[in-house]
Amino acid sequence: MIVAIDGPAGAGKSTVARALATRLGFRYLDTGAMYRALTWLALERGVGFDDGSALGALAEASPITFDADHVSIDGQDVTEAIRRPDIDRVVSSVARHREVREVMRDRQRELAEQGDAVIEGRDIGTVVCPHADVKVYLVADSAERARRRVAERPEIGAEALATDLRLRDERDAAQMQPAADAQTIDTTELDIEGVVDSIERLVRERASATK
Ligand code: DC
Repeated sequence: MIVAIDGPAGAGKSTVARALATRLGFRYLDTGAMYRALTWLALERGVGFDDGSALGALAEASPITFDADHVSIDGQDVTEAIRRPDIDRVVSSVARHREVREVMRDRQRELAEQGDAVIEGRDIGTVVCPHADVKVYLVADSAERARRRVAERPEIGAEALATDLRLRDERDAAQMQPAADAQTIDTTELDIEGVVDSIERLVRERASATK
């Protein structure tokens, strides 16, 4: 079974998807980490963020692997490096290229085909796994999303983080449409357990409906 969890930055996707995967005994796949890893490598190699074909070729040539909580690209562990604020600021510029998205889409589909998984991203329910068994689109109001980011990146000022988030939303807008059959959950006033409980209910309903 595939559970797709999409939505903007700060809506709670990672925390919820991780907790849900643990509860269900499913794999957890963070597709944002794949775009971040490619962005890290492009910075290392000096590949321009406007050059879609060079970025696509770099993506094609650079396998990304997940091992427990670690992500590596081209054999280098980038788990911590990809959470840097300089990556936050430019990842959308890399992710917007068709050439990059095609490589990522195919890799993500291959990973999805390996069995039960909770997959988080922006376009999982629409593009990567349009036949996902359960599709959820998480949202939260922008002040709450900025507040959550401040907790994750305490070294950066609240105002700068709110601006970064707004700019990233604008750049990611093309990828951020909920699937027509996704269940939208507003997490602004919900705690993690509550959100995970509701998605788990959807998964159980779906599992018994398809038995
Ligand atoms: O979820 P995140 O913040 O780690 O994602 C990083 C960036 O990657 C985000 O700004 C948009 C992009 N992304 C995407 O375009 N498609 C996905 N499926 C996942 C992430």
